[in-house]
Amino acid sequence: MKNHDSAFAGISEPLLDLAALRADTPGCEEVIHFNNAGCGLMARPVLQAMLDHLRLEAAIGGYEASAARAGEVADFYASLAELLGTRPGNIAFAASATHAYTKALSAIDFRPGDVILTTRNDFISNQIAFLALRKRHGVRIVHAPDHPDGSGVDVDAMAALMRSHRPRLVAVTHVPTNSGLVQPVAEIGRHCRELDLLYLVDACQSVGQYPVDVEEIGCDLLTATCRKFLRGPRGSGFLYVSDRVLQAGCEPLYIDMHGARWVAPGYYRPVDTAARFEEWEFPYATVLGCAAATRYALRVGLEPVSRRTPALAGRLREQLAALAGVRTLDGGPAPAALVTFTIEGWEAVPFKAALDARRINSALSYREFAQYDFADKDVEWCLRLSPHYYNTEDEVDAVAGAVAELARSAR
Ligand SMILES: Cc1ncc(COP(=O)(O)O)c(C=O)c1O
Repeated sequence: MKNHDSAFAGISEPLLDLAALRADTPGCEEVIHFNNAGCGLMARPVLQAMLDHLRLEAAIGGYEASAARAGEVADFYASLAELLGTRPGNIAFAASATHAYTKALSAIDFRPGDVILTTRNDFISNQIAFLALRKRHGVRIVHAPDHPDGSGVDVDAMAALMRSHRPRLVAVTHVPTNSGLVQPVAEIGRHCRELDLLYLVDACQSVGQYPVDVEEIGCDLLTATCRKFLRGPRGSGFLYVSDRVLQAGCEPLYIDMHGARWVAPGYYRPVDTAARFEEWEFPYATVLGCAAATRYALRVGLEPVSRRTPALAGRLREQLAALAGVRTLDGGPAPAALVTFTIEGWEAVPFKAALDARRINSALSYREFAQYDFADKDVEWCLRLSPHYYNTEDEVDAVAGAVAELARSAR
């Protein structure tokens, strides 16, 4: 095995007080949580915000409780706006990233023959939604090729496709669920702005792991969940909608009494803000948990997080790559904190179960999650390990040690 300590000598992030951050994270005492790409561990203030609100609802009534906490509810929008470099009125709450994504898609008046230009590494549910649009509206789905050097999508080729197809929508996943690849979303965005193309970014795995700035990316729409690297609760997500899109009058297909005013018997008017993409009913405890998680992330600081988190994953990837029978799969010059690999001699479920038994949380990805990427890599399934900044170097080494032992036992 290589000496990983020398390669990652700079991994310790002086700005992060790891002991305090771990003390703030009850789950750190229970498990080695390397499934942050599934769902991060909530910090105490997030849990507390949610529990407090549920107690308040029980004590004074649900509508009364949300009215009493209107300031904290407003901070859901303010904190996310701060995180993403936009204004509160450009943020909509959603029940999941996919919910936000399909709401956004529903606002586009697709016609037969319209092109959706995407990549070979887009999230499974987005791809299924495009296929559903093809079935219903006859859109054409065009996949930009990957760069031969393995760095992700070939931006020049994608830009050429933008010019030749004039797509109705350009849709790119920043970091896919199936590998640590980081796509050059800002470079793609510059082409979209130059050609005035509608640009939708799925930032589900990057928000909370990297600084994500919607102006820098140049996107019109951006979706994410709060439960992954942002460490918020399950059942949450959001949609960023640019002023351009709002001012163009885009609205979701189904808009309700929260998103629109019924101003005359035969007429409704969408509200001016991204709230037109929301619905009336909200899980307020969840919304407050998201606000607490976003404030927490802002306090910890996305710059130090984005240095430490992928570096921890790099330390793990390097140790795994050195093991006989293990093949790491993450492409790109600077992969994110999603470490994916295959292991000889194991089936998917027993392998994950063997890690579960060691209290190591992980996730499986199957061919159907990534039809293009896994076909290119000739992979039927892989295991995904996704540390976060609150994990330790010792945990990384313990996980690598566990995989080494399992790899040996299969040979
Ligand atoms: C890249 C990416 N996009 C979208 C999603 C969907 O998120 P949600 O489950 O909140 O709909 C995921 C979930 O794993 C993801 O990894």
